[in-house]
Amino acid sequence: MRLFTTVAALRCYLRQARAGQLNSLVEVGLVPTMGALHAGHLSLIEKARKQNDVVVVSIFVNPLQFGPTEDFHKYPRSLESDRLLCEQVGVDVIFAPTAAELGVVNQEEGYRGQVLGVREESFSPTPNPQPPTPSSLPVTQVIPPAPMISLMCGLERPGHFPGVTTIVAKLFNIVQPETAYFGQKDAQQLAIIRRMVQDLNFPVQIVGCPIVREPSGLALSSRNQYLTPAQKTEAAILYQGLKQAQIAFYEGEMKTQQLIAIVKAQLAKVPSIQTEYVELVHPNTLKPLAEIKEVGLLAIAARLGSTRLIDNIILSKR
Ligand code: PAJ
Repeated sequence: MRLFTTVAALRCYLRQARAGQLNSLVEVGLVPTMGALHAGHLSLIEKARKQNDVVVVSIFVNPLQFGPTEDFHKYPRSLESDRLLCEQVGVDVIFAPTAAELGVVNQEEGYRGQVLGVREESFSPTPNPQPPTPSSLPVTQVIPPAPMISLMCGLERPGHFPGVTTIVAKLFNIVQPETAYFGQKDAQQLAIIRRMVQDLNFPVQIVGCPIVREPSGLALSSRNQYLTPAQKTEAAILYQGLKQAQIAFYEGEMKTQQLIAIVKAQLAKVPSIQTEYVELVHPNTLKPLAEIKEVGLLAIAARLGSTRLIDNIILSKR
């Protein structure tokens, strides 16, 4: 396994890997991550391993996608253990660039994400007082369609999805994978990336992968490290709420209002959970639904202490 921190070195490697097979196409699979790898990430990597000749895992805690009061600085970073895990599941290449290498930091301006409110003291002599608006970011960006980012996680986290699409577009251009793998755990992100690929004609196939959960039902997340054991037990209520709604759906309940009420009733059982949203939308367009005709994405965001948790389930008639 190789680890590259520069675009030039990675490209050099990939050029050689592609040239090695003269008569057949070398399929490159990319799994973009922010590291602190867990079994959810590994499920994406394992799928990529089965479907590709070369598997690239990117590890980059992207400052562009964190808001001013978010956990950019305390986000878990564990490159050494990530490296071992990647080795064990047969990854060919880890791409772990610095923010400077990806052009999202420079000495004068600090993190370009600073305009979105991310502060890095050593680089940012003048914290930016502007409210976080994607249009004030001084780099070329990819901005998803407004209706896809003006609800759910996009409401609470302005600038988050433009930060994601900008970095993912850069990774696609750097790695030029045939296929890229994303988790259904971040369902809004997955829908937005599929839409970006379609709108901007990226020659990459997007594969969505199912949510990996703890035995309790809690969706695995790097942020679960912030939870105490007691909070972890409480956090399982998110999935229980979704499951209750799924049972009602299978029994014939199609109305959004009722399905959302079922989830909220479950969440209310744990007083320490603060619900941010419960929404039922179309999984591809993210348009809010009044009722499920064919398929719906039922999604939750909630806070437990200072930890923000998200989860979702697809409700499908088929
Ligand atoms: P990160 O949170 O590290 O997640 C990387 C990928 O792993 C995402 O596609 C996410 O949906 C998937 N994933 C996380 N937990 C999962 C679980 N329990 N089951 C299945 N898949 C899971 O998402 C990001 O990073 C970033 O936004 C990124 C796309 C890398 C851009 O910076």
